[in-house]
Amino acid sequence: MERRSLGKTGVEVPVVGLGSWLTFDVGPDRQQVADEVVATAYGNGTRVFDSSPMYGRAQEVLGQAVDGRRDDVFIASKIWTPSQEQGRFQLEAQLGYFGGRVDLEQVHNLVAWEQHLAWLEHERDQDRVRFLGATHYQSSAFEELERVMRSGRIDAVQIPYNPVERDVERRILPLAEELGLGVVVMRPFAERGLLPGPGPERLERIGVSNWAEALLKWILSDRRVTCVIPATADPAHAAENAAAGQPPWLDDEQRRLVEELAD
Ligand SMILES: NC(=O)c1ccc[n+]([C@@H]2O[C@H](COP(=O)([O-])OP(=O)(O)OC[C@H]3O[C@@H](n4cnc5c(N)ncnc54)[C@H](OP(=O)(O)O)[C@@H]3O)[C@@H](O)[C@H]2O)c1
Repeated sequence: MERRSLGKTGVEVPVVGLGSWLTFDVGPDRQQVADEVVATAYGNGTRVFDSSPMYGRAQEVLGQAVDGRRDDVFIASKIWTPSQEQGRFQLEAQLGYFGGRVDLEQVHNLVAWEQHLAWLEHERDQDRVRFLGATHYQSSAFEELERVMRSGRIDAVQIPYNPVERDVERRILPLAEELGLGVVVMRPFAERGLLPGPGPERLERIGVSNWAEALLKWILSDRRVTCVIPATADPAHAAENAAAGQPPWLDDEQRRLVEELAD
């Protein structure tokens, strides 16, 4: 799988990661399924795994699923609370789940971002957190996200980007490129809104074999994107998604065809 640098950190990560919202918020009886999804994704080159305290049991389930591979994966999680004290508890829990380190700690939905970045910078100095980031899923928050990006205090942003959610093209992607920030893309299938999509016979001209591949390649063909994190509870889908992380990327005409089919 192709690897790209997370902005100017210089750390290279494979371009297709794995999200965990909803899919990994499961009881111990479904741990085995999560283990299979992670093992398949990992076996096909995926290394970035994203979670959050907002996703119920997902962090714990993910932590168990990556156990034994921790040194070879890149864990992105989040702090999601208005309280600094609660935020510190969230980090302590993550250090337990993820072998004493979070690779990318993101302020979820920009909640209390200034307060959290202050103590998280100290945690980064202690090597408990490697890089800092910020996320938001709504374009109404992008002005504030721009302020965080310009603050010089974060290494990466996590934002939605797919053929029907393109607001980041106006300011966020150009700014990330200008400032040398990593870009993690959430919601590649618009939370299923873009699924199931057209069958293989309509995808020939795009040069892909399935619709998920078309959407992931549409996103990754924008070289400002570092990686994309589709979520799945199906090992076969995890393999299919990982396979989309290989060039060739789509040219402008192929991208336009994907946009037409997504409309
Ligand atoms: N920071 C934020 O505000 C925020 C917000 C939303 C999401 N996120 C992050 O981004 C991740 C991804 O976004 P998302 O979970 O909203 O949605 P998504 O990845 O756009 O869509 C997930 C859905 O796509 C299906 N899917 C995955 N691969 C497929 C394939 N190859 N073929 C057919 N269906 C496929 C999955 O169903 P199956 O289980 O059947 O495969 C799942 O229901 C989240 O899990 C989370 O880590 C962050």
